[in-house]
Amino acid sequence: MAVLVTGGAGYIGSHTCVELLARGEQIIVADNFYNSKPRVIDMVKEITGKDFKFYKADICDRSSVENIFRENDIEAVIHFAGYKAVGESVKEPLMYYKNNIYSSVILLETMKKSRCKQFVFSSSATVYGIPKSVPITEDFPLGSINPYGSTKLIVENICRDLYDSEPDFRIALLRYFNPIGAHESGKIGDDPNGVPNNLMPIIMRVASGKLDKLSVYGNDYPTPDGTGIRDYLHVTDLALGHVRAIEKVRKEVGCKAFNLGTGKGYSVLEIINAFEEVNGLKIPDFIAPRRHGDAAECYSDPSLAKNELNWETKIGLNEMCRSSWNFAKSQIN
Ligand code: NAD
Ligand code: UD1
Repeated sequence: MAVLVTGGAGYIGSHTCVELLARGEQIIVADNFYNSKPRVIDMVKEITGKDFKFYKADICDRSSVENIFRENDIEAVIHFAGYKAVGESVKEPLMYYKNNIYSSVILLETMKKSRCKQFVFSSSATVYGIPKSVPITEDFPLGSINPYGSTKLIVENICRDLYDSEPDFRIALLRYFNPIGAHESGKIGDDPNGVPNNLMPIIMRVASGKLDKLSVYGNDYPTPDGTGIRDYLHVTDLALGHVRAIEKVRKEVGCKAFNLGTGKGYSVLEIINAFEEVNGLKIPDFIAPRRHGDAAECYSDPSLAKNELNWETKIGLNEMCRSSWNFAKSQIN
């Protein structure tokens, strides 16, 4: 029996494949390389010394998904495949609704037909919209402020409705906070195609000289240094959260959401300072206007994941900054 990992060549998916393989899980990976590169699959095999089946497939293509289920004995699915750029989702909403929602419906329909009922979904802290306070618990009001966030909220609702109608489904909705960092080997990391818009990938661009300066989006927030606060967690810790979620859905029916974060917030300036100190580099920056749709503070209360998944983060900010650059500098050509 295998775990199907969609989007397994991507940033979080590839790190999760490594952790699943390291624990003796059998995996099957599907990705269309829309936002990743084929060599990531070789790197995962090299890091773990393990082999697995890979399908270059679009999860929106029903016949490809049905074929994967026909050819394999799939016990559970972790669904990472999706588009994730907030700005792009505002410009191209239909592209986001189609890819993120349709892929999930096709997968769940195929799972239902194949009597595979264990599903782990990549949701996001974005489903909390602009939170009314921090730390955020899973029972906070949900809302979306952009099409990307709407797709995550809609798929969460689809999962809840499916569970209500089919109570033998076992679904974990994992609401990630801000994953950064890279595998300790330096062989895999965040390597998006195109222009990034998240803080750490942009710091990498400045560090590698591809961008002159970092725009700090606002220093007039009601936070100690005026810049935005987020809950950054190491991608390997996040990957381990998926290992625990798979163990959970194996044991229990239900459809439950879990925050995956550290519970601690860092400001933009604290991230820049930590990065500079750990890597001995200077990141030139300037204060730019606030970015539309940004909250002043967003960090998790991760106690539900601790109590029910037996998961908590272990890796600190310095290692997040060190490993991010260790990977990014190896990609400079
Ligand atoms: P990523 O872009 O690195 O990985 C996604 C992978 O899915 C890519 O390899 C891409 O090629 C693949 N893909 C996209 N559409 C596909 C399709 N139709 N068929 C097959 N493959 C497809 O992104 P990531 O950072 O690893 O994020 C993984 C998931 O987690 C996404 O759903 C994302 O929305 C969610 N998420 C990410 C973050 C973050 O900060 N990185 C935060 C919250 C949630
Ligand atoms: C952003 C998305 C969110 C998505 C998440 C993960 C927006 C409004 N929110 O969240 O929906 O779930 O990414 O993909 O896009 N910052 C700068 N300069 C930069 C980039 C970022 O100062 O060049 C600041 C931001 O204002 C924020 C912090 O850095 O305070 C983190 O930004 P980012 O990495 O984009 O994550 P989120 O804002 O949490």
